[in-house]
Amino acid sequence: MRAKSLPVFVTTLWALAGQGAATITLDLTSQDSIKSAASTIAKDMMKYYTGNNPGDTPGNLPDPYYWWEAGAMFGTMINHWHYTGDTSYNAIIMQAMLHQAGDNGDFQPLNQTKTLGNDDQGFWGMAAMTAAEVNFENPPSDQHQWLALAQGVFNTQVVLYDSATCNGGFRWQKFTFNSGYNYKNSISNGCFFNLAARLAMYTGNATYAQWAEKTWDWMTGVGLLVEGVAVYDGTQNTDNCTSKDHNQWSYNAGIFLFGAAAMYNYSNGDSVWQQRTQSMLNTTDNFFADGIMYESCESTGKCNVDQRSFKAYLARWLAATSKIAPFTASSILPLLATSANAAIKTCTGGTSGTQCGLKWNTGTNDGSLGVGESMAALEIVQSNLVSTSSDFVSTVKGTGSSVGNANAGTSAGSTSVDGKSSSPVTTGDRAGAGILTALVLVGVLGGSALMISP
Ligand SMILES: *[C@@H]1O[C@H](CO)[C@@H](O)[C@H](O)[C@H]1NC(C)=O
Ligand SMILES: *[C@@H]1O[C@H](CO)[C@@H](O)[C@H](O)[C@H]1NC(C)=O
Ligand SMILES: *[C@@H]1O[C@H](CO)[C@@H](O)[C@H](O)[C@H]1NC(C)=O
Ligand SMILES: *[C@@H]1O[C@H](CO)[C@@H](O)[C@H](O)[C@H]1NC(C)=O
Ligand SMILES: *[C@@H]1O[C@H](CO)[C@@H](O)[C@H](O)[C@H]1NC(C)=O
Repeated sequence: MRAKSLPVFVTTLWALAGQGAATITLDLTSQDSIKSAASTIAKDMMKYYTGNNPGDTPGNLPDPYYWWEAGAMFGTMINHWHYTGDTSYNAIIMQAMLHQAGDNGDFQPLNQTKTLGNDDQGFWGMAAMTAAEVNFENPPSDQHQWLALAQGVFNTQVVLYDSATCNGGFRWQKFTFNSGYNYKNSISNGCFFNLAARLAMYTGNATYAQWAEKTWDWMTGVGLLVEGVAVYDGTQNTDNCTSKDHNQWSYNAGIFLFGAAAMYNYSNGDSVWQQRTQSMLNTTDNFFADGIMYESCESTGKCNVDQRSFKAYLARWLAATSKIAPFTASSILPLLATSANAAIKTCTGGTSGTQCGLKWNTGTNDGSLGVGESMAALEIVQSNLVSTSSDFVSTVKGTGSSVGNANAGTSAGSTSVDGKSSSPVTTGDRAGAGILTALVLVGVLGGSALMISP
């Protein structure tokens, strides 16, 4: 994603006041009221999505939304089904997720090469992980499966761990030709950490846990994550990661919170991960005032398109954390309630008269409307159903139904769409396959130099 460089996109579609359109009421003591409010917000949000129209590409949002935000949105919609039981979007979600999975089942579709940072791919991977965890309807057996898709993202990222500079960590970008290749940022490392921790929790495979631990250690060692204080945006490897971009974003705190909680749960309540989960929970305080969530860019009025969606992820991960690290629930649930009650007051905009705004602490619609604003409001409202939602399933518990593939996304584990694994390959074959991929990419990009790190 382009959180740092995207020019501020000012949408000033002011709410059409006095239209007499429906307003959303929200009574948090009533499950039906929460579900009904969530359904109205989901409907407004999904009006932006055109990928299911004939001739359009399933999984893509129109401009100005980057590819990653569509993946994030489908994660929210999977959650929507989980929390509310509303199946009306399930076919659209399935179609979008499977189309963008790409040929190798790792969310690296060739069309998106120019926008494909580790974080962009990560948001699609986390959506697939959510589908596995909440037991979302499994794809047809001849298609890529949710758990395998999440593993495909892990496998294609783990080989990019870059020990050559800054003692380790992941770069923002995968490809040298994309700007930001020299940047090692918290969200890319956070996506990998979050996914690795959840794969450990789901499968019980200790390799994932070791990678989560290693990423946490790098984040704290390099000074991007200061426990109980802050998660900073990122750092440049051009000065061995000495200088930092000290901006703080809610999703960076949230992504490490839920990952730490997954490690806590995976380790059956290990005290080190309990303390880390608590320290991340403390860090999320940086994004609340009077119990209402906010993003720091809101005060300057300069949140870009990406940033207007970030509260969705903090809301999503706070709720999920309360489930898998129950010791946090008494702190988290009241914040979900006060924030949802504040957010719903902004849902008076747009032609529907129910579109939600950006700033929840204003008590009114601020005129900023879009996918991000709707997604954030949707997540905070539906997360108030978390305490009665069903538990995450997993292979460890014997409840998971999603089929995995530990080698997904590698040439050894590539499955064609008919579901048949390709025959085992030698190291020489693997190198050949890598070169072939590179040549295909060079062709697509008209001959740009390409080197896949490390
Ligand atoms: C890539 O772009 C082409 C042309 O727009 C489209 O037909 C195809 O569905 C796209 N593939 C993916 C995975 O989005
Ligand atoms: C870069 O920083 C790491 C600590 O983050 C240190 O271990 C390493 O020695 C440094 N490398 C150079 C070349 O200064
Ligand atoms: C555990 O995960 C690692 C990393 O993907 C993989 O190499 C290994 O085969 C997995 N082990 C099992 C038992 O699935
Ligand atoms: C979290 O914040 C509380 C209250 O300020 C403090 O007592 C506690 O030590 C903090 N815990 C961690 C792990 O940072
Ligand atoms: C792990 O999560 C489950 C819910 O999925 C919960 O019941 C259990 O108590 C959690 N484990 C710990 C150690 O908190």
